[in-house]
Amino acid sequence: MFSLFSIIFFTFSAANSASVEENFLQCLSMQSQSSIAISEAIYTSSNASFSSVLQSYVRNLRFATPTTLKPLVIVAAKHESHVQATVICSKKFGLQIRIRSGGHDYDGLSYVSNVPFVILDMFNLRSINISLTDETAWVQAGATASKIHGFPAGVCPTLGVGGHFSGGGYGNMMRKFGLSVDNIVDAQIVDVQGRILDRKSMGEDLFWAIRGGGAASFCVILSWKIKLVQVPETVTVFRVVKTLEQGATDLVAKWQQVAADKLDQDLFIRLFINAVNGSKEGEKTVKVSFVAMFLGQTEKLLSLMKQSFPELGIQKKDCFEMRWVESVLFWFDQPIGTPLEVLLNRIPKSQVSLKRKSDYVQEPIPKTGLESIWKLMIELGEVGMQWNPYGGIMSEIPATETPFPHRAGNIFKIQYSANWNQPGIEVTNRYLNLTRTFYEAMTPYVSKNPREAFLNYRDIDIGSNTNGTYEEGKIYGIKYFKNNFDRLVRVKTSVDPDNFFTYEQSIPISPS
Ligand SMILES: Cc1cc2nc3c(=O)[nH]c(=O)nc-3n(C[C@H](O)[C@H](O)[C@H](O)COP(=O)(O)OP(=O)(O)OC[C@H]3O[C@@H](n4cnc5c(N)ncnc54)[C@H](O)[C@@H]3O)c2cc1C
Ligand SMILES: *[C@@H]1O[C@H](CO)[C@@H](O)[C@H](O)[C@H]1NC(C)=O
Ligand SMILES: *[C@@H]1O[C@H](CO)[C@@H](O)[C@H](O)[C@H]1NC(C)=O
Ligand SMILES: *[C@@H]1O[C@H](CO)[C@@H](O)[C@H](O)[C@H]1NC(C)=O
Ligand SMILES: *[C@@H]1O[C@H](CO)[C@@H](O)[C@H](O)[C@H]1NC(C)=O
Ligand SMILES: *[C@@H]1O[C@H](CO)[C@@H](O)[C@H](O)[C@H]1NC(C)=O
Repeated sequence: MFSLFSIIFFTFSAANSASVEENFLQCLSMQSQSSIAISEAIYTSSNASFSSVLQSYVRNLRFATPTTLKPLVIVAAKHESHVQATVICSKKFGLQIRIRSGGHDYDGLSYVSNVPFVILDMFNLRSINISLTDETAWVQAGATASKIHGFPAGVCPTLGVGGHFSGGGYGNMMRKFGLSVDNIVDAQIVDVQGRILDRKSMGEDLFWAIRGGGAASFCVILSWKIKLVQVPETVTVFRVVKTLEQGATDLVAKWQQVAADKLDQDLFIRLFINAVNGSKEGEKTVKVSFVAMFLGQTEKLLSLMKQSFPELGIQKKDCFEMRWVESVLFWFDQPIGTPLEVLLNRIPKSQVSLKRKSDYVQEPIPKTGLESIWKLMIELGEVGMQWNPYGGIMSEIPATETPFPHRAGNIFKIQYSANWNQPGIEVTNRYLNLTRTFYEAMTPYVSKNPREAFLNYRDIDIGSNTNGTYEEGKIYGIKYFKNNFDRLVRVKTSVDPDNFFTYEQSIPISPS
C-alpha cells in the first residue's frame, strides 16, 4: 500500500516537473529574440556537459556531492535577452532562480536550493570596456576581478563581480579607496518584470540597495560602471611571520592599536593566524603572518613603520617592490616573479571543502584575551583566522551611504576559516562544529547587539529564511546591515512585492 502510494506519488511529481521543465524551455525560446539563439545557452540534465558546466563554477566542494540538489536547467546567458527570458519564464512557471557569477559564495547559495530551481549563470557575459578619458569602465557581471586595473576589489582574482561587488567587495586598497561599492557609478540590471534598467531608470533607492545589499534579493546585475582609481607605478609588499615564542602576542596587541587608526591610508597590514607545530616534537604554537600592501616605495614604507610600528622590525630585505598588477599575484599567494598570465586563468588555484564565518572587533582584545584565544586555537587545531584592518577612508564614509554598515568604530574584521579535503558528512560536520565552537568562544571579544557579519563572507549559521517572514529575515538582516536593513526591506517591498528574488538570506518583504 505504502509503496504503491509512493510509486504513484513519485511518478506524478516526476511527470509534473518534466512538464514544468518543458513548458519553461518552450517559454524561453518564445521569449528570447536575440541574434544568439538561446538554445546555445541552455543545459538540462540530458546535455552531456550539464555536470561539467554545473561544477565548473562550484568553489566549495562541500556542495559538489552526489546528494547536492541539482538545478532543473542551467541558462548560461550569452545575451542580455537570455537573462530577461529566464526571469520572465521562471516567474511564470514558479521556478526559483539562483544567479551565479563567479560561484564563490561560501555557503553555495548561488547554485544550490532545496526547491525546484534554475541556475542563471553569468560566466559568458564578461566583457569589460574601459574609458581612460573619464577613468571609468563598464564591467559585465561574469567578469573576474583580475583584469580591472586599478580598482579596489577583492584579493582573489577568480571572484565574479556579480556577487562580489553587490556584497560590498573589499580588497587591500580599502583603507585608501573604500569598497568596490564606494566606486560604482552606474549599473545595468534586469528587474523582476524582465526590463533592462540603468541607474536613472531604476531610481536611487534601488541603486543604493544593490551596492552592498546583495543584488540577488532585487534583480539580476548585467554590468557595473565603475570609477577606476589611480595607483602608483610602484607598490611594496612584505610578509613576516612570528610565532608565540617570537613575541607574536605583543605584536598582535600593538597591531590592534595602530593598524586601523594610526597607520597611513596607503598601508594595509593583514594578519593570518594559525595553530602550527612548534619547534620541539609534539609541541604546538600559534603562527601570525603580517602581510602588507603599501601604495608607494620601500623607503617611505620603512619610515612609516619605524614611526608607528617599530616593534615589527621591518627591514629593507623584507620588502619587495612591484607593479600594482603584480601585487595581485603576491596576494594570491603566488611566488614573486610568477607571470601575469596566471591572472587570466578562470579556474581557481585549488578546490577544497570549506566553511567561513565573520566578526567585527570594535575594542582591542586584551592580551589575556589573546592568550586564551591562542590556547583554544591550539586545542581545536584546524580553524584559522584572517584579520583585516579597517580605518582610513572606511571611517569617513557614512554608515548609511551604502547598505554596507561596518564603517567608523571598527578596528578590524575577522574571517574564521576551515578547509578540508576528505569527503563525507561526518568529516563535514566535524569541521562545521569546530568553526561554530570557535565562533562561540569569540563572543566576549567581538561586536554585540547586533553581532555584526560581512555579507560577502556568507554564513548560513547566523540565520536563514525558512518561513519567509520579516521577523526571520531580520535575524540575519540586522547582522549584515544594521540600521540599513529597514531601508533594504522598503526597497525590496516596492520593487519585488511578490518576492520572486528569494534565497536563504534574501531581504524579506515588509510585514504590510
Ligand atoms: C577564494 C575567495 C577569496 C575571496 N576574497 C574576497 C575578498 O578579498 N574580498 C571580498 O570582499 N570578498 C572575498 N570573497 C568573498 C566573495 O566576495 C563573495 O563570495 C562574493 O559573493 C563572490 O561573488 P561571485 O560572483 O564570485 O559569487 P556567486 O557565488 O556567483 O554569487 C554570490 C551571491 O551573489 C549573487 N549574484 C551573483 N551574481 C549576481 C548577479 N549578476 N546579479 C545578482 N546577484 C548575483 C548570488 O546569487 C549569490 O547570492 C572571497 C571568496 C573566495 C571563495
Ligand atoms: C542541450 O541539448 C539540447 C537538445 O539536444 C540542444 O538543443 C542544446 O543546444 C544543448 N545545449 C547546448 C548548450 O549545447
Ligand atoms: C562593450 O562594448 C561592446 C561593443 O560596443 C558591447 O557589445 C558590450 O556589451 C560592452 N560591454 C559592456 C560591459 O558594456
Ligand atoms: C605536526 O606534528 C605531528 C606530530 O606531533 C605530525 O603528525 C604532523 O604531521 C605535523 N604536522 C606538520 C604540518 O608538520
Ligand atoms: C560540537 O559538538 C559537540 C560534541 O558533539 C557538542 O557538544 C557541541 O554542542 C557542538 N558545538 C556546536 C557549536 O555545535
Ligand atoms: C518564522 O520564523 C521566525 C524565526 O524563527 C519566528 O519568529 C516566526 O514566529 C515565524 N513565523 C511564522 C509565521 O511561522
